Amino acid sequence: MKYFQLLLLSTLVLLVNSSCKDQQASRQEDQAPVSTEPDYMSQGKEIAARTFGVLSSTLQQAMNKDGVPGAIDLCNLKAYPLVDSLSGAFDARIRRTSLKTRNPNNNPTMQETRILDRYQETVQNGGELQPLVVTLEDERHAFYAPIRVNAFCLKCHGVVGESLDEGHYALIRERYPNDKAIDYADGDLRGIWSIEFEN
Ligand code: HEC
Repeated sequence: MKYFQLLLLSTLVLLVNSSCKDQQASRQEDQAPVSTEPDYMSQGKEIAARTFGVLSSTLQQAMNKDGVPGAIDLCNLKAYPLVDSLSGAFDARIRRTSLKTRNPNNNPTMQETRILDRYQETVQNGGELQPLVVTLEDERHAFYAPIRVNAFCLKCHGVVGESLDEGHYALIRERYPNDKAIDYADGDLRGIWSIEFEN
């Protein structure tokens, strides 16, 4: 919530400034300008980290309790009120996408495909994947960050008959007949966080 603190501070500074304008007029030139531009990088990181945190702990708990069948419906961001509240608090559209999606609603836009291709290329060249902030054509900003696969994800995104149980995959296929999100290995790039800020 650093942004809000900053915004509050800037608003206070503005208020104080305008109310004492006359007395301060001569000193105003000495003051450093206060930036009100939000820090999209740290906001994006915060949103992704908090969403990932609640998502993985909820998934993990459900898997421990009921196994994969009990957890399948919990990988959809719509299952999480936190995502709605972060969306409202940051005025942002929060989603995940991939070159190989399970849910076609998560298919990438052209802009997201460009970012996914770019990350994929970096992986192929052995480079480090870093989060990005991009200014979109309509001047809004977007935050992107890589999503990697770990051993836990393979139970639903691994190789059928090996890391991904056949029976479990049949259940996944029932819900997602167009699934492409399998055959991953530990450490692979799975997709990206894609967070578009409305302001
Ligand atoms: C219990 C099974 C399960 C586990 C475990 C799981 N996923 Fe998923 N994953 C799914 C399902 C089901 C969807 C489709 C969700 C939807 O409808 O949006 C999905 C969707 C996704 C998407 C969105 C893009 C798409 O393919 O539609 C990403 C990214 C993703 N998973 C990454 C991961 C990562 C990373 C992990 C491990 C940290 C993980 N998943 C663990 C079942 C799982």
